[in-house]
Amino acid sequence: MTDLADWLAGIGLANYAATFAEQEIDFELLPLLTEGDVHDLGLPIGARRKLLAALAALRGEHAVRSEAAERRSEAERRQLTVMFVDLAQSTPLALRLDPETMGDVLRAFQDAVTGEISRLGYVAKLMGDGVLAYFGWPRANENDAERAVAAALAITEAVARLESPTGEKLACRIGIATGMVVVGELVGQGVAQEHTVVGPTPNLAARLQEAAGLGEIMIADMTRRLLGSGFIVESMGDRLLKGHKEPVPLFRVLRQELRETRFPTRGTVDLGPMFGREADLALLRNAWEQAKSGRGGTVLLTGEAGIGKSRLVQALTGDVAADNPALQVFQCSPLHRENPFWPVVRAFPAMAPMIEPPAGGSNRRGSRHDIARTIADELLRFAGRGPAPLVFEDAQWADRATIDLLRLLVEAVAETPALLIVTSRIRGQPRLGPTPSLVQLALARLDGAAAAALLAATAGRHPLSSRFTNDILARSDGVPLFIEEMTKAIIETTPAGGAVTVPATLRDSLVARLDASPTMKAVAQIASCIGRDFAEAMVFQIADVPQDELQEGLTALFGAGLLLATSDGQFRFKHALVCDIAYESLLTPRRQKLHQRIAEAIEAMSGGTAQNEPETLAHHWFAAGQDGRAEPYWLRARHRLAHWQEQLDALADYLEIGGGEVIPFPRPAVSPKIH
Ligand SMILES: Nc1ncnc2c1ncn2[C@@H]1O[C@H](COP(=O)(O)OP(=O)(O)O)[C@@H](O)[C@H]1O
Ligand SMILES: [Mg+2]
Repeated sequence: MTDLADWLAGIGLANYAATFAEQEIDFELLPLLTEGDVHDLGLPIGARRKLLAALAALRGEHAVRSEAAERRSEAERRQLTVMFVDLAQSTPLALRLDPETMGDVLRAFQDAVTGEISRLGYVAKLMGDGVLAYFGWPRANENDAERAVAAALAITEAVARLESPTGEKLACRIGIATGMVVVGELVGQGVAQEHTVVGPTPNLAARLQEAAGLGEIMIADMTRRLLGSGFIVESMGDRLLKGHKEPVPLFRVLRQELRETRFPTRGTVDLGPMFGREADLALLRNAWEQAKSGRGGTVLLTGEAGIGKSRLVQALTGDVAADNPALQVFQCSPLHRENPFWPVVRAFPAMAPMIEPPAGGSNRRGSRHDIARTIADELLRFAGRGPAPLVFEDAQWADRATIDLLRLLVEAVAETPALLIVTSRIRGQPRLGPTPSLVQLALARLDGAAAAALLAATAGRHPLSSRFTNDILARSDGVPLFIEEMTKAIIETTPAGGAVTVPATLRDSLVARLDASPTMKAVAQIASCIGRDFAEAMVFQIADVPQDELQEGLTALFGAGLLLATSDGQFRFKHALVCDIAYESLLTPRRQKLHQRIAEAIEAMSGGTAQNEPETLAHHWFAAGQDGRAEPYWLRARHRLAHWQEQLDALADYLEIGGGEVIPFPRPAVSPKIH
């Protein structure tokens, strides 16, 4: 604890030592704090900024140190998650089976275990009926503890599927511990060669493994603390383990938990009344009632941007109890069309390790078809718990793996209490059918009465003259987004007694609204470079505008209804078109400068985005006009995709939808449209 207090004092935040202690954050955890964690500490903005900067510096130091260490291959101190897997009851089994058969059993066991480990970590040693694995060495990942536990769950399942030739089921025991160790030089010869790992952690992992029951995973306290909420863990009390003077707390991992989305679409958004759409809503409700009675189905909701697809979905999800944890909205994004399963991983980060390409390019058999199938099963299980609709928004931007997942879901929902709702613009709409349980609902423009009612509701206490009303109705052509924005533009920009005209297009209306407040416009422009969804912290980090103006601008945008607050200091442009238009109002040099600052900020953050979303960095560097810096990220994204192409072709064969189709990987244009 003193380490932490010293460090805080060093950056002028000594006063907050108690806050850190309350949250059980110690010095060793510091490099692992995410921006979200820092936000949750509830510090004032000044302190938050200082802390984020100091954390970035701390991580930079770590990264530089460990890279250098890797090159020298000398002894190094680092955090490591150690896992021991042991085949249970191997001794009685060996007594019953002849040696050759026992050899086969052990080989099958080792294959199953090492197959799972090599996807997520490093197999350090094979010991007959035991396997030792490291997570965090030779390469550290942001989420090594999670990777270890995810691997452990997969191992438990894989081993449970094995049988001895005499029909006995196999089972293993697993122990996992995390802590600082010193990884030393290579010792030994040939296959027996290994790196020495010094510290109490390996011993603790071995003791935990001994304490585990059949098929159980026992983890240490530090590992549990690093897991976050992605897993269900049960406390087993304290136990005195061999070689330990004090009792040690033990935790048992039960299963992986799907996390709730960080971007709930309800609760935070105050929606006005919905006009028209009675027939559409009735169809949707009917499909939902059928689903609840066990005859699930899919509704593909199509229509142009701003027509009201999301609004209609929200009308249905509003019927579902607000606290139903199974309600999920998976949002596709144009920035991540080349990142497999991006919408799902974004909502459930715990799934990331599951779909990562295997380390070292090894192709584990079995993983190919299984991944999409496993995700589909998980999602259906999750939706069935509510039950609640499963919503995929803006499928025109879905990556191909997600589309394949959707096809699996469309097939699978029929016998479940799940309703799959997919929204899409008409251009780029995915082909999901034909299937008897799939209904396509194409949204038409609002009719005259509904459009007039929406206009009147938007104008509220500032009724417009019939000249303006008719003008807006004629220009907006029944598209609700246009009706809202044009009406607000007139109200917000009408000078007392002055003459104005209705803006000719949606773009003109939005520009007029933004122009009414320079701070609002500046912040909208900065945020639009990040993307439709952005973190408040990122805006503060990259902005070249004084902080109080930023705060003022954000508040104004929120007040004007152009931004929605989602969660955790996260904002979202009300509509993709709003983000586009703010973006397009920027002059190129400034736009490039902002993209450069965003790219640098993301690079300075450890792990996460840089690693899992190389396409994001490629996009920002291209948009910054620095193709040379974009290229490596672009190549990395393409590499991931190539790996997935292979997997997906196999999946396509499996689904009999004809594989072999090559996914084009377009190089982003230098100034791509964000949305
Ligand atoms: N029938 C409706 N009644 C009232 N407001 C609507 C209606 N349909 C859409 N809106 C509003 O119009 C805007 C755009 O709708 P949205 O659902 O986001 O469009 P889409 O998802 O099709 O692009 C939103 O502010 C939404 O609340
Ligand atoms: Mg929408």
